[in-house]
Order: sequence, then structure tokens, then C-alpha cells
Amino acid sequence: MGKINIKASDRVFVLTGAGISAESGLPTFRASDGLWAGHHVEDVCTPEALEQNPELVWQFYSERREQGANAKPNPAHLALAELEAKLGDRFFLCTQNVDDLHERAGSKRLIHMHGELAKSRCSEECGQPPIEDRRVYKNLSEVGRCSCGARLRPHIVFFGEIPLDMGMIQREIDQATLMIVVGTSGSVYPAANFVHWARQNGARTVYIGPEPPLNASAFTNVVEGKAGEVMPGLFEVE
Ligand code: APR
Repeated sequence: MGKINIKASDRVFVLTGAGISAESGLPTFRASDGLWAGHHVEDVCTPEALEQNPELVWQFYSERREQGANAKPNPAHLALAELEAKLGDRFFLCTQNVDDLHERAGSKRLIHMHGELAKSRCSEECGQPPIEDRRVYKNLSEVGRCSCGARLRPHIVFFGEIPLDMGMIQREIDQATLMIVVGTSGSVYPAANFVHWARQNGARTVYIGPEPPLNASAFTNVVEGKAGEVMPGLFEVE
């Protein structure tokens, strides 16, 4: 396929998943050697796991903090930051990723719907906002406490919890005329539904990744390839 043409009247909503960080060396979830391959999701990524075995949950996310800190943005992250620099507030990025590679590439209008690795928050939801926390914990006794006294938890949306900023996401999708989805298997909701919402509003929808996602039939175009290889130079801004 040729370039993706972006007109002066377009508003672009981008959704990214683990695939965009794959070329930075961060494993995806559902690949055969992915993050979930060595773990039971219910042991490390549910509210019940946090209650029953907080040390294991913290060890899992501490390992990911270490990996994330050592990774660098790749050309796909940079291509999105460059696109935002051209489009300004006609661009919005929603990532399912908890790494900070989009920010480090220069993206500004972005939200992390599944939380952020580099933050922690009160495990009792006492109302204090999340705090920056890049520490790597080996034991539960090292994990800090909220000012209310409760133990901190990773600022991660676990399975069964409601994603963050859904109101803002819905408003941005309602206004978008072009949705670009990168590197997500289309298996986790509500993110997998965003393409359907955009289509209902008449937007063009483009998927970028090495294989079609589960919801591929909802896209007007599928660009097959690795994000870091196909995204530089892909967008033509009028
Ligand atoms: N470029 C683009 N896409 C790629 C690349 C690449 N270089 N390499 C792999 N992919 C694609 C795969 O083809 C797959 O479709 O990335 C996708 C990764 O899918 P998943 O592992 O399911 O990750 P994701 O869709 O982000 O998972 C969604 O599930 O476990 C939860 O909360 C977690 O945010 C995560 C959510």
C-alpha cells in the first residue's frame, strides 16, 4: 500500500499495543515467547493476585520496570511523535502500553489506558493520586507506603478493572476522522472495540502490524509489516 494521506480537516486517533515496543526489545503478551507464556495472568495481573500474593505481583512488575528502563524508543514511536508535531491538537494517542517509550520519543497528547509502569498508587484507593516510582523491589518489605499507611501497588489496570480515562477516549474517538491502530492483537476489550466505534462514526481505520489482528475485518486498510520498518515516511500530511 502507498502512503496514508492526512488532510487538513482530519483528526487522528492512534491506538497502540505491545507490538509497537517489540522492536525496542520489550516482549508482547500473546506471542509464544511472550510475557504471558511464563505466567498465569491470574497470578500477577488481577486484584485477587494483589490481595493474595502481592510479592509475586511486585516482582513481576519490578522485572518489567527494569526491562522498560533499559529499552529505547524505536522508529515507530518516533514516527508518531513526528506526526503529532505536525498535527498538534488534531492528534491524540491512546496506548495500552505501560512503558514510557512514547513519551521518551516526544509524544505529548497521550494517555495510558492500562496504567504506567513508572508509577505506583495506594492499594486501598484512598484518593491520593499516583506517584512516580521507578524502583525495583525484590521483597515486599521494600515496597513503600501511601501517606494513608496502606501499601503501594503498581499503577497498572489489572484484568477485571476499568481502564483509565475512558471519557476522554470516547470523546476523542467521536471526533476522529482517521483511526490508526498499531501492534495490538485485538483481543482485550474495550480497546478492541475502538475500531468499531470509529467506523460507526464514519472514520477511516488503518491497522499496522506484521499479522492481521482478531478484529481485522473492521479496518478499511491493513498495512502488513513491522511498525518500526513501515511507519517512518508512511504518513503524508497535506
Ligand atoms: N510491529 C507491530 N506489531 C507487532 C510487532 C511489530 N514489530 N511485533 C508484534 N506485533 C503485533 C503482534 O502481531 C500482535 O498482534 O503486536 C501484537 C501484540 O499483541 P498482544 O501480545 O496481545 O498485546 P496487546 O494487544 O498490546 O495486549 C493488550 O492485554 O495483557 C493485556 O494489558 C495488557 O495492554 C495489554 C493488553
